[in-house]
Amino acid sequence: MSVIHHDVVIVGAGLAGLRAAVEVAEYSDVAVISKLHPLRSHSGAAQGGICAALGNEEEDYPIWHAFDTVKGADYLGDQDAIEIMCNDAPRAIIEMEHFGVPFSRTKDGKIAQRPFGGHTRNFGEAPVRRACYAADRTGHVCLHTLYEQCIKRKVRFYNEYQVLDLCETDGVICGVVTYNIRTGEINVFNAKAVMFATGGFGRAYKTTSNAHANTGDGLAIAMRHGIPLEDMEFVQFHPTGLYRLGILVTEGARGEGGVLRNAAGERFMERYAPTVKDLAPRDMIARCMYQEIREGRGVGPAKDYIHLDLTHLSLKQIETKLPEISTFAKIYLGVDPSKHPIPVQPTCHYAMGGIPTTVDGRVVIDENNTVKVGFWAAGECACVSVHGANRLGTNSLLDLIVFGRRAGKDIVQFVRETKGKMPVQKDADKRVREKIDAILSRTKGEPVAKIRADLQQMMMDKVSVFRNEELLASACQEIKALRERAKHAVVQDKGKEFNTDLLDAIELEFMIDYSQAIIEGAYHRKESRGAHAREDYPKRDDVNFLKHTLCLVDEGGHSEIKYKPVNMALAERDWEYRDKFIPKERKY
Ligand code: FUM
Repeated sequence: MSVIHHDVVIVGAGLAGLRAAVEVAEYSDVAVISKLHPLRSHSGAAQGGICAALGNEEEDYPIWHAFDTVKGADYLGDQDAIEIMCNDAPRAIIEMEHFGVPFSRTKDGKIAQRPFGGHTRNFGEAPVRRACYAADRTGHVCLHTLYEQCIKRKVRFYNEYQVLDLCETDGVICGVVTYNIRTGEINVFNAKAVMFATGGFGRAYKTTSNAHANTGDGLAIAMRHGIPLEDMEFVQFHPTGLYRLGILVTEGARGEGGVLRNAAGERFMERYAPTVKDLAPRDMIARCMYQEIREGRGVGPAKDYIHLDLTHLSLKQIETKLPEISTFAKIYLGVDPSKHPIPVQPTCHYAMGGIPTTVDGRVVIDENNTVKVGFWAAGECACVSVHGANRLGTNSLLDLIVFGRRAGKDIVQFVRETKGKMPVQKDADKRVREKIDAILSRTKGEPVAKIRADLQQMMMDKVSVFRNEELLASACQEIKALRERAKHAVVQDKGKEFNTDLLDAIELEFMIDYSQAIIEGAYHRKESRGAHAREDYPKRDDVNFLKHTLCLVDEGGHSEIKYKPVNMALAERDWEYRDKFIPKERKY
């Protein structure tokens, strides 16, 4: 068994992983393991912005930001974590600026800010300019900047290493097992601290803005170590994916003045959200779009999409503020957005749920928030939970850098206090080797791609924007059948180098595990809240469901659901803003 030692191992090289690495590298020996080259991480696909109440373009305060986040989350977000994030946001953005992020600028040289869905001034009065941006390539420039900062600090990168398991000795996490994609070699990494920043899982759905790599590997691995996943039923559909392709068209397009229109050319969001209109939160807009389509007002021969109209914006505005999405529309749909509206439809975009953590990124395993020693998580794979039932646009990049940094700081402290090396888990790679041998030895069965396509279609048809008992009960049955089929999936490539066929088979097993957690959470949550819209339970039910779901699914498909309370610190504190944070009906 080949063992590589580092003080700290971070899995995932998106913004959360890199921000943590920057923090740790000042004090400890840190390695970042990634299944991709870091600059291909999905954080780089984030377009429209990263928010902070800087007040550069108009008056703004962290308390307004916190109010919008709590309300946007349909009151399921943990208020202690939200307060930390919103208060830390201005500092975090200035730090990114000093690291070298080339933000777009106002006329007087400050960081430019644009409006984004659900972000308002003065507790809901009107949209506010809170999203700091670099044209529509904000994630891309943040990723490059943090990668440079890591290189400067001599962070050790292991690129194209797929994580397959955690190492655990006496209940303490002490490393990871990986598969070297280039050589087929299995390695054991031993560390005092392991952090997962493995990203989201949108690839479980047919229409998604997510990269091919977003297969939720970290989530499934965590469950295999008895760690339940939190609030997995809350899956965000971004309103504007390119029709049929799902590729993201930034909400920044609406922040710049773009509007959604139905087949009659009507700006229909004026009817649903009279105050903020096209800048309502994503869960609402996605539902309104489907409502228009269901009632026969969709666009196109099949009346199954909506128009995003930018034709009234100036060419200069499109070219300087929205160059990326303008190119996407031209290349993929042959539509020039300065002349014609862009056909769009909701696309699976973001996971509000994930591996439960404290505000310092420590993974917790139960309703009492018992810490799993040696293990941290941050970013989209984690659930801290600042996004509750629905995330506001641009709060995601912020979450990554705020909680990535906090996890990094906490890891530094832990490593300082933990003398010597962690014991290496005996036979740490045995389970992984057996799994790979079993997959490679199969000669008869279905191809992985067929089972994966059926999973994606099923999740799209039965567990997407609108849900009900019948659909979810049927999804519960189907996921069991898919699990059985996956046990017999065959891979054609039996080789060692770049065996993506084998990796697809492994990822499929991960996808089935966490998809079951999404389905089970959705089935048992008999209310509508944020991104979870139950047609059979159309109202939010704070009496019975103002609580986080914890769902554990084992490799055999057995599941267990528990719940834990939501942190309501801002609504319970004796202060002038108390009333703002007490749950009430969400209106925009
Ligand atoms: O629309 C967007 O640019 C996406 C931003 C986000 O998901 O935060």
